[in-house]
Amino acid sequence: MEAPPLTIAIDGPAASGKSTVGERLAKALGYLFFDTGVMYRAVTWVALQRLGSVEDEAAVTRLAEVVQIDVQPPSQNDGRQADVWVDGDDVTWAIRRPEVDQWVSRVAAYPGVRQAMTQQQRRIGLRGKVVMIGRDITTVVLPEAEAKIYLDASVEERARRRYLERKARGEEVNYEEILESLRQRDYLDSTREVAPLRVAPDAIVVNTDGLSVDEVVQKILAQIN
Ligand code: CDP
Repeated sequence: MEAPPLTIAIDGPAASGKSTVGERLAKALGYLFFDTGVMYRAVTWVALQRLGSVEDEAAVTRLAEVVQIDVQPPSQNDGRQADVWVDGDDVTWAIRRPEVDQWVSRVAAYPGVRQAMTQQQRRIGLRGKVVMIGRDITTVVLPEAEAKIYLDASVEERARRRYLERKARGEEVNYEEILESLRQRDYLDSTREVAPLRVAPDAIVVNTDGLSVDEVVQKILAQIN
């Protein structure tokens, strides 16, 4: 068998399975798993906390430039993939709240915020042995990645997955609301001017509708080896 690619970049719309599949791939290869979405979520959370809203682009950008976001291996066995710390506070679950879902795509469209996040992500990616997931990893953050995957699924299937995920965490959930929120985020993420979500010309597109996590992981491993 050939050596696996050193950097694996995975993009795709919200809830397409990137984090579950990415984590499994990283484990299988002994690589670092890095979910870049948590960084945009962390900035959004801090902005809501400290500024009360995300409206002021200049203020949010300044925050993104100075805030210390730290992603560490999970310290607790409560279903988290990683610890996410912001200036010393554990925000791992806070950044999954609906108000963050509601505002994160707005924050992620601010060019200054993207610049601050992209620099940090690129530095980590260039060390190699990493599976990095997001919206612009294959196109902007690590265009030189040896393996590029675009994970997709229908919006209904993605809403169903997110619904089950939240329900399993004991949250109150409404399928229609989740569906609407995903549609809105898809729209904002793919129409923004800087680093929109799109399929890189050399990416392998994997549609995960009706496939189990195992099947998706096997499919990707078969493609990249
Ligand atoms: O987990 P889910 O698919 O719901 O979203 P996420 O990966 O945590 O990303 C949350 C939001 O951050 C996305 O909707 C994008 O607006 C933004 N994002 C981005 O712009 N670029 C990335 N590389 C990762 C996330």
